[in-house]
Amino acid sequence: MNTLLFKDIDQSALEQCGALIRQGELVCFPTETVYGLGANALDADAVAKIFKTKNRPADNPLIAHISDFEMIEQVASSIPEEMKELTELFWPGPLTIVLPRKKELPNIVSAGLDTVAVRCPDHPIATALIRAAGVPIVAPSANLSGRPSPTCLSHCQEDLTGKIAAIIDGGECSIGLESTVLLPLGNHRVKILRPGGITVDMLKNVGFDVEVDPAVLNPVKEGQKVSSPGMLHRHYAPKAPLFIVCGEYETVCNAILNTMDEETWVLAFDEYLDRFPRAISFGSKSDPLSQSQALFRALREFDHLPCKKIYAMEPSESGMGLAVRNRLLRAASFQMVDAERL
Ligand code: TXA
Ligand code: MG
Repeated sequence: MNTLLFKDIDQSALEQCGALIRQGELVCFPTETVYGLGANALDADAVAKIFKTKNRPADNPLIAHISDFEMIEQVASSIPEEMKELTELFWPGPLTIVLPRKKELPNIVSAGLDTVAVRCPDHPIATALIRAAGVPIVAPSANLSGRPSPTCLSHCQEDLTGKIAAIIDGGECSIGLESTVLLPLGNHRVKILRPGGITVDMLKNVGFDVEVDPAVLNPVKEGQKVSSPGMLHRHYAPKAPLFIVCGEYETVCNAILNTMDEETWVLAFDEYLDRFPRAISFGSKSDPLSQSQALFRALREFDHLPCKKIYAMEPSESGMGLAVRNRLLRAASFQMVDAERL
């Protein structure tokens, strides 16, 4: 299939992409978090193409993206008043809310669940595309299943060229990690199923009690029931095995330097980058947003290098760090090593 590429997209090209969505085709588009692989949420056959193209497990539901609050009625049957408060504060933005599903919505969107995840992205191209299509757009991250999510055009091309109708270039994604997924629990309580740009503190500061699902930082045991099917699947993994090295940063650097060979690479904070013969930037140790912008790009870069093993420095859990840590743990299949034992 010939994949159209739109750079510097204008209104007439957006209309063309909106029409492709309405015709049941897939269009890859930028958001502030990561690139999404979009299809008409109301067209079951179009949604099925997403699962096939990504090789996505059929039990993993999709997020419905809307451009305007009113569009929510097309996907969700209701929204609790207190969730409206959150949408007023954080939409458009990196916040996805799990709501009761509208029964007319194709089953495949929710992978058979009676809920639907909804988000209003904060990106002019995403908003314009949804408006041009005139329908809600379901969009998982635009990677092949298991690979790191794409944060720029070349990542999308790597995974999707020849497989979908069009890719829209929007430059670099400003956050670089996927949205926060929230499950409302009632009485101003919410559970974070996936951490992202809307942090625990941001939610607490506006009067919500926040619970972080244990699966965010711990491996799910066999047979354990999960709140979000995405927690079960292997994610973000580079080809080489990745180990998170724990301990005081100075000790970590020395331990890695003493152990690494020619085929070992390091995911290192900028402050320590020049200590290693082979390393890729993991942003600054004190700036989780810079880590979030660096992580997926770095994980993809390792695959293009003669790299047999990766050691990563350990991010903190505070603020946006929780999201960074969650993705890194999954990329490492939860393999953590103490620097003293390396
Ligand atoms: O930032 C984002 O959210 C990006 C951009 C493109 O908007 N999208 C994205 O979609 O990350 P995806 O499909 O890669 O991840 C969706 C996550 C999965 O972990 C899935 O299991 C969870 O949301 N999810 C979707 N619907 C759900 C539901 N009804 N209940 C619980 N979890 C749900
Ligand atoms: Mg994804």
